[in-house]
Amino acid sequence: METIIIIDFGSQYTQVIARKVRELGVYAEIFPFRTPAETLIAKSPKGIILSGGPCSVYAENAPHPQWNALDFGVPVLGICYGLQLLAYQNEGEVTKAEHREYGRAELIIDNQDDIFAGVNPRTQVWMSHGDYLTKMPEGFKTIAHSANSPICAIRNTEKRAWGVQFHPEVHHSMEGKKILGNFVRNICKCTENWSADSFIDTAIEKIRAQVGSGEVICALSGGVDSTVLAVLLHKAIGDKLHCLHVDTGLMRLNESQTLMDLFAQNFNMSIEKLDGSELFLSSLAGVSEPEKKRKIIGKSFIDMFEVAASKFNNAKWLAQGTLYPDVIESVSVKGPSAVIKSHHNVGGLPEKMGLKLIEPFRELFKDEVREVGRLLGVPDWFVKRHPFPGPGLGIRILGDITRDKIATLQHADAIYIEEIRNAGLYDQIWQAFAVLLPVRSVGVMGDERTYDCTCALRAVTSVDGMTADFFPMPYDVLSKISNRIVNEVQGINRVVYDTTSKPPGTIEWE
Ligand code: XMP
Repeated sequence: METIIIIDFGSQYTQVIARKVRELGVYAEIFPFRTPAETLIAKSPKGIILSGGPCSVYAENAPHPQWNALDFGVPVLGICYGLQLLAYQNEGEVTKAEHREYGRAELIIDNQDDIFAGVNPRTQVWMSHGDYLTKMPEGFKTIAHSANSPICAIRNTEKRAWGVQFHPEVHHSMEGKKILGNFVRNICKCTENWSADSFIDTAIEKIRAQVGSGEVICALSGGVDSTVLAVLLHKAIGDKLHCLHVDTGLMRLNESQTLMDLFAQNFNMSIEKLDGSELFLSSLAGVSEPEKKRKIIGKSFIDMFEVAASKFNNAKWLAQGTLYPDVIESVSVKGPSAVIKSHHNVGGLPEKMGLKLIEPFRELFKDEVREVGRLLGVPDWFVKRHPFPGPGLGIRILGDITRDKIATLQHADAIYIEEIRNAGLYDQIWQAFAVLLPVRSVGVMGDERTYDCTCALRAVTSVDGMTADFFPMPYDVLSKISNRIVNEVQGINRVVYDTTSKPPGTIEWE
């Protein structure tokens, strides 16, 4: 497959570059800057993009690859740090700006031959850099400038290398996609051959070849990834697939039933549903410490799964919906979640049960999984659902967990989601959910004094869950949700809205 290689120098936007290139119908893969030249050459890339990064090229720990991208003999595009690296390695010079340039800027294009072909001669771009180019690298010429900086884009026609000081991959760069399109299609001559459709065909062939006559177990969490995975596997291997769903008792209101109905109504697939609520809730009784709760939930899941999966003794494979962002060995600063919370998964289980892992989505981004789902006939309302964490409501009830608290939170959460949907906001939000706090406060209902719990509402926008901004929920919607929760949910007499972004907060409260 025609591939564009993206070298990661630590920019928060590296994954966005890959996604944008793929949206253009061209397969893109990310590699850390330390990757040896031979590994990159072995991929036979059609072009190389050098990402941005937070460092100055002169900084002590600045990421410097062992190769010069100009030696690969394929077109190169350096973005921000990538441009500065091109300069640094090719006798140019970079200087520290007095003020970091951050935000929108007007790019004035001086040459529209290739990378800026068809782009408005004055176009808005997104700048984010502390250094700028003061001496042109060998063989390069300026092709765009701005009011603040005389060099915003450069080109070396002989070496087929381009550098831009701005970030074409972020959506504030109005014509960024056209610029990336010019690079991958016109300059690198890539054809459009990457799509969810083509992925499905090749994935089915690969799955069949990989598992042969072996049987596969797939655990359904109720989330989009595992659901789409099960449907894809079923298409590939039919009844050699065995699906399990463990109802942990910590699901959203009617969640398990919705999942079973989805499969019954849309796909001719049988799912083994196990009621694990007794095991989960008794193991969690009296436990308040977040990490301890997470560990107990993880272990209970493995215990349940092990017993259930032993029924399928011909199974040799365990399917997992691992996505590309989990696979990339990124130098970017990932959010603190990886170290701060032990994520719930089936780690350790495959080895213990002698199962081999099959992970057909290892090269996909979440949006691509959603697209694959749509093409496989998973209904749109399901494909667009917000992510839900493995430990479920267990990490949204602060303090110890009881059946009553679960019922209270399920009710409040259902009202919250219903109102967000009614207001037409659901699809603008990455994740929205209610949290039950062990904080009681005084209120008044009718003429009665109340002394009940607090419910916190969380809604964030995000691209991948690594960073997030709180969603500016309109006041009228908040007011309606708050009124309904306090009036309809017994045990809650106060509602607050969480305005913390990530970082420094995390999305979940535990
Ligand atoms: P945090 O709270 O770390 O969450 O900012 C980032 C994203 O990850 C989800 N999350 C989990 N997903 N198992 C999962 O499958 C987990 O243990 C887990 N913990 C957090 C969270 O919902 C958000 O989308």
